[in-house]
Amino acid sequence: MSIKRVGIFDSGVGGLTVVKEVRNTFPNLDLFYLGDTARLPYGDKSEDTIINYSYKNTKFLLSFDIDLLIVACNTSSSFSLPFLEREFKLPIVGMISPGAALALKRTKNKKIGLIGTRATIRSGSYRKEIEKIDSKAEVYDASCPLLVPLVEEGFFDDEVTEIVARRYLKGLEEKGIDVLILGCTHYPVLKPTLKKILPDVEMISSGEATSLHLKEKFGLGESPAPPSKIKGGLRIFATDTGTHFKEVAEKLLGENIELESVAL
Ligand code: DGL
Repeated sequence: MSIKRVGIFDSGVGGLTVVKEVRNTFPNLDLFYLGDTARLPYGDKSEDTIINYSYKNTKFLLSFDIDLLIVACNTSSSFSLPFLEREFKLPIVGMISPGAALALKRTKNKKIGLIGTRATIRSGSYRKEIEKIDSKAEVYDASCPLLVPLVEEGFFDDEVTEIVARRYLKGLEEKGIDVLILGCTHYPVLKPTLKKILPDVEMISSGEATSLHLKEKFGLGESPAPPSKIKGGLRIFATDTGTHFKEVAEKLLGENIELESVAL
């Protein structure tokens, strides 16, 4: 099937790390992004609430006649994927299986670190997926609830973020991990900070994993055009535009955007 229009959602700006990667790799796609800022963060919510929000987000994005949905939120992917796949008849890509597969591809010693929201870690989604593919791999995880608000605040490479991240990563440092799954789409912008703490560990981001997955599973071809030649459109919606979403989104994407508001 030919994929031209892709819907992508997250609770806030985080999913734009996936948008950036997908847009650079497949510059001819038309992308429709929704940040559910009115209900952020998802990471502390219950399973039912996360599924309910994910359902509404998907319904909204379907109004753009999309060919494929990317759930660019690890928290939502951890809980709502089976439900969304039952309810909606279109291909849906979540973050967990591409991220787990890429981590296993890159690890040499099979000691995999994982950071994510409380809900993602609690769900055990990555652990289950990794064990399914390779039962010998060991997973060491840590939930990092304060990192999402720091990213939403635009504190990407900042001393406050570094102090918080050091505290969360303390337990992982001693485990000898050689890869770290950034199991939340907000985290890739923190790579420079995380690298200061774990310099020898390879970081696995949802955006890179998703692009690889789109190539391998959906046969999407990379366009030879450099990012400056992006032809596809990008519309960005938020359920609450009262925050400084636009500013942070522009910083993250490195381009000016027009932010549209939607009530769900
Ligand atoms: N970016 C989302 C994720 O990948 C979650 C952030 C939140 O807690 O809302 O899990």
